[in-house]
Amino acid sequence: MMKKRIVVTGGSGKAGKWIVKELVEQGYEVLNLDWKLPEVPLCQTQILDLNDLGQIHNALSQYNVRDRQPVEAVIHFAAIPQAFIYPNDVTFRNNVMNTYNILEAAANLDIRKVVLASSESSYGIVFASQFFAPNFLPIDESHPQLSEDSYGLSKMVNEITGEAFHRRTGMQVISFRLANILEPEDYPRVKQTFADPEERIRILWSYIDVRDMAAACRLAMEKDGLGAQSLILAADDTSSDLSSEELIRRFMPELAEYAQHLPGRASFLSNIKIKEVLGWKQQHYFMEQ
Ligand SMILES: NC(=O)c1ccc[n+]([C@@H]2O[C@H](COP(=O)([O-])OP(=O)(O)OC[C@H]3O[C@@H](n4cnc5c(N)ncnc54)[C@H](O)[C@@H]3O)[C@@H](O)[C@H]2O)c1
Repeated sequence: MMKKRIVVTGGSGKAGKWIVKELVEQGYEVLNLDWKLPEVPLCQTQILDLNDLGQIHNALSQYNVRDRQPVEAVIHFAAIPQAFIYPNDVTFRNNVMNTYNILEAAANLDIRKVVLASSESSYGIVFASQFFAPNFLPIDESHPQLSEDSYGLSKMVNEITGEAFHRRTGMQVISFRLANILEPEDYPRVKQTFADPEERIRILWSYIDVRDMAAACRLAMEKDGLGAQSLILAADDTSSDLSSEELIRRFMPELAEYAQHLPGRASFLSNIKIKEVLGWKQQHYFMEQ
């Protein structure tokens, strides 16, 4: 039997390589679209610039031509992954146009499912010029997205673009508002921030293990009938050794009334919706890594 085909973009990057690994291990055939090669090749990579729709079409039709087997889904993770490393307009243009292009290509080629990498940065706190506390805790999908930076804004735009393509073609588009992604090798470094908890205040001490993230991507493209939705993808717990109540008391005392909703080291980002929609469950907990 032929393996089902999935396209991953950004599969040479930090998160993407774990998505490729998860899919290959689960028996999928994967094509990675990226403008650089991966350090360890796990699947075929096509080097291209996703800002150029022609290159995407050409890559996907070359891929299809062999046996005309369709692509089931695209998991789109290619992006400039933070603000301020490139000039603002470069970040915005790359992230918005490559997302538009991948959705346009998927629509034209009748690919019915797309997963997009959005970010907790779309809530605006991470890269704001001045720290501001959320309106309420835990932040859920109903909290306003308040970006002022071009990276967070690009993620807000991309979610809306995904919804538009769902309206245009009925394709399923799931946008993950990802917390800070941690690979196994990252944990010792992050644990050093216990000495200075304020270091991770901008991300509200949230994280998602890269293996749990990859499993969520697979679930999102295996499920049907989800429409267009944005889902927070964060761990149940924080990456701090302090209780969430203590973090609120020290750093956001104006939100003291919400401490009762955050027992122990409960995350400031709610993952209730993703559990309901995908049946996703966390496997990797911060203190066990
Ligand atoms: N790392 C995190 O903590 C985090 C948190 C929230 C959201 N995200 C999002 O997750 C996704 C992956 O992030 P990452 O940390 O793996 O970043 P990364 O930089 O390690 O990987 C991104 C990959 O995309 C490729 N790429 C970028 N623009 C491209 C283009 N125009 N054409 C072809 N390839 C292109 C890069 O070569 C790279 O391999 C991004 O969309 C990022 O915004 C990351």
